[in-house]
Amino acid sequence: MSQVKPTILVTGGAGYIGTHAVLALIKAGYGVVVLDNLVYGHRELVENVLKVELVVGDMSDRALLDQLFATRNIAAVMHFAAYIAVGESVTDPAKYYHNNVAGTLTLLEAMVAANVKKFVFSSTCAIYGMPQEVPMTEHHPQNPLSPYATSKWMVEKILADFDLAYDFRSVAFRYFNASGANPDGLLGEDHEPETHLIPLVLQTALGKRESIFILGTDYPTPDGTGIRDYIHVSDLADAHVLGLEYLLQGGTSDVFNLGNGNGFSVREVIETAKAVTGREIPAVERDRRAGDAPILVGSSDKAKKILGWCPQYADLSKIVADAWQWHQHRHG
Ligand SMILES: NC(=O)c1ccc[n+]([C@@H]2O[C@H](COP(=O)([O-])OP(=O)(O)OC[C@H]3O[C@@H](n4cnc5c(N)ncnc54)[C@H](O)[C@@H]3O)[C@@H](O)[C@H]2O)c1
Repeated sequence: MSQVKPTILVTGGAGYIGTHAVLALIKAGYGVVVLDNLVYGHRELVENVLKVELVVGDMSDRALLDQLFATRNIAAVMHFAAYIAVGESVTDPAKYYHNNVAGTLTLLEAMVAANVKKFVFSSTCAIYGMPQEVPMTEHHPQNPLSPYATSKWMVEKILADFDLAYDFRSVAFRYFNASGANPDGLLGEDHEPETHLIPLVLQTALGKRESIFILGTDYPTPDGTGIRDYIHVSDLADAHVLGLEYLLQGGTSDVFNLGNGNGFSVREVIETAKAVTGREIPAVERDRRAGDAPILVGSSDKAKKILGWCPQYADLSKIVADAWQWHQHRHG
C-alpha cells in the first residue's frame, strides 16, 4: 500500500513560481493548501487548473493562520508570498519590509506556535549584490542593493535565529532568473506589471508592446549586453519538492542557489525568441540602468550534490519555447 504523503501549505501558491511548485507537489503525491491574497495571484489557475484548496487571505492575518494550522494537519510550509518588484521597492520600501519581512515573521510565529517547523523559502541571488566572482556560490559575500533584496536577506537572518532558538528547520533557495513555463502550456508567468526580460520580449513578439529596450550595449561581455542566468520554472519547482523532502527526512537548515549555470545575454534572448516565434521583435538600445551587473551567473553545484537536483531544461530555446506556448495560450 502506498504511503499517504502529508499536506503542505503553499503561500503565494497562486503566483508564477508558486503555481508550478503546487503542480510539482501534486505530482509527487502531496496534499496542498494554497494561501494567497490574490493581490497578484491567479484564482483560476489554482481552482481550475491545479484543482487544490485555495484560501484567499493574507499571511499577516495571524488568526487565519492559527485556524489553518489547527484544522488542516499541515506538515510544512513553502513560502512564495512576497512583493517582487525591485524598482518599486526602492520608491516604496515600507511596502516591501511590511509584507516581505513583517508578514513572513507573522507566518513564522504562527508556525512555531502550531509546532510546524519545516519551511522552504524563496530567497534571491539579489542578496549577493554586485558579483565579485562568477559563477557565484553560496559563499559569495552578501550585499543586497535594494529594499526587495534586503527584505529577503533579513528573512534569511530570521530563519537562522529561529533555527537556533526553536529547532525550526528551513531551506532557503536563492533563485537566479525564474523563467519559462510548464511544458503543457497551462501554467506560466503573468505578472502585472511585468518586469522580466523573457515575457517582455514575448509580449513584443505578440505585438502587445512596440519594442523591447536593451539597457546597456557597452558591458564587458562578448556582445556588449548584460548576461543573466535563466532557470526554468519547472526545474525550480522540482528543487522545492527535493528541499521539502530533505527537511521532512530530518535535514538541517541550509541555503542553496538555484540557477542554470549558463549565462545568456540580452541579445541572445532576443535572437532565440525570434527563432522560436518566427516573429519580428524590434529592439531599442538604451543606456545602462544604474546598479545592473554585467554578468550574473550562479553555481548550483550544492543543490545538485546535497539535494540530488537535476535540472531538465537548461537550454534557452526550450525555456523560451515553453514561455511562448504559454503566452500564446494566455494572451495570443
Ligand atoms: N520571479 C523571479 O525570477 C524570482 C527570483 C527570485 C526570487 N523570487 C521569489 O519567488 C517568490 C515568488 O515569485 P513570483 O515570481 O512567483 O511572484 P508572484 O507575484 O507571481 O507570486 C507571489 C504571490 O504571492 C501573493 N502574495 C503576496 N503577498 C501576499 C500576502 N501578504 N499574503 C498572501 N499572499 C501574498 C501574490 O498574490 C502572488 O500570487 C517571491 O517570494 C519572489 O521574491 C522570484
